[in-house]
Amino acid sequence: MIAIGSDHAGYSLKCEVIKFLENSGIEYIDCGCNGESCDYPDIAEKTCEKVTSGECEKGILICGTGIGISMSANKIKGIRAALCQDYYTAKYTRLHNDANVLCMGGRVIGAGTAEEIVTVFLNTEFEGGRHQRRVDKIMGLENK
Ligand code: RB5
Repeated sequence: MIAIGSDHAGYSLKCEVIKFLENSGIEYIDCGCNGESCDYPDIAEKTCEKVTSGECEKGILICGTGIGISMSANKIKGIRAALCQDYYTAKYTRLHNDANVLCMGGRVIGAGTAEEIVTVFLNTEFEGGRHQRRVDKIMGLENK
């Protein structure tokens, strides 16, 4: 189960990503918005809560640039959000950072690129090993 959310600036790309999830048989919970003007920190909070509670395995967040919503998501304990606008970073944030939330910019990339990013993000396993120590250190920063 995937949690997905966007603000108004990410809404049309979110609709494309949802179509793609449906066509791929991937279940999701849509945490808003429905196209109305809203504040991306509220959407980040609502979507990430589904991940930290365990209801959803991963999250997808979209705003205009992807920046504001990723900044917001990374303030939430337990979240490792990665802003990815290309295939390579989406792949390596799973392999090396064990990212649990993917952020994208609806005003930056198109549906085709987003589909490739989502596919590699959802299908790549964390490598562990030396990367586990580094991820543990990231999570340790939550308590500073
Ligand atoms: C909304 O206009 C825009 O500021 C927002 O979607 C995002 O790009 C912020 O980082």
